[in-house]
Amino acid sequence: MYQVTRNNSDMYGLKYIPSIEPQFSNVHDWTNLCEGIKVQREFSDANREELLKQFLKIRDKCKCIVEIGVARNAPDESSTGIFLDNKLTETVYIGIDIESKTFLNSVADNIYTIQADSKYKNKVIKLMKELNLDSIDFLFIDGFHSVLQVLFDWSYAEFVSPFGIIGMHDTNAHPGPYTIFDAIDEKIFTKTKYCLGNNDWGISFIEKKVDNSKDR
Ligand SMILES: C[S@@+](CC[C@H](N)C(=O)[O-])C[C@H]1O[C@@H](n2cnc3c(N)ncnc32)[C@H](O)[C@@H]1O
Repeated sequence: MYQVTRNNSDMYGLKYIPSIEPQFSNVHDWTNLCEGIKVQREFSDANREELLKQFLKIRDKCKCIVEIGVARNAPDESSTGIFLDNKLTETVYIGIDIESKTFLNSVADNIYTIQADSKYKNKVIKLMKELNLDSIDFLFIDGFHSVLQVLFDWSYAEFVSPFGIIGMHDTNAHPGPYTIFDAIDEKIFTKTKYCLGNNDWGISFIEKKVDNSKDR
């Protein structure tokens, strides 16, 4: 699919830093390879079903959700709706989006949004500290889909707790999610793609492998 140059990686969890230049640009979130996919809905029912299944695996111990790219679609057609409709009240939800999503904010329900480019990770970390949170239990990446932006977004992965789950939308064709998914190190993570095919943008989930070495 993409002709990827594999640059040396000093990033947590990546085998290499992908680049799709000169075939395509690393700063665009769309290439003509995305045009082969025709969807009825941006975030399909099948995407919502898989996301819910994954979230329910850790819901009861999930203290902190961070979502990159918030509520562009209605609650019953988005990832955000899955989190807000299913999280425990005490679970903190932090959404970051370049657009204002303050209509979602509710201190009583532990729902916070930050209007910023997701590359300003320090804003999320600062809010987490204020809320006495030191790790992310569910990280969902669905913002801008360029290679460079998803690399920024992947850098939140170092804050994910040992039992935490990372989800990425648009892993079937968009340049960032597609190439960063491939670069994720299988020695550290198990990674699985769902909703493959030409009528869905695709969704993937990544979990840390359990380190049993300390038990030996
Ligand atoms: C594809 S929508 C997905 C939103 C949400 N996951 C949903 O299901 O409705 C992408 C969102 O990412 C936001 N976005 C785009 N570029 C961004 C950036 N650099 N940083 C943070 N959010 C960004 C857009 O404003 C938009 O709301």
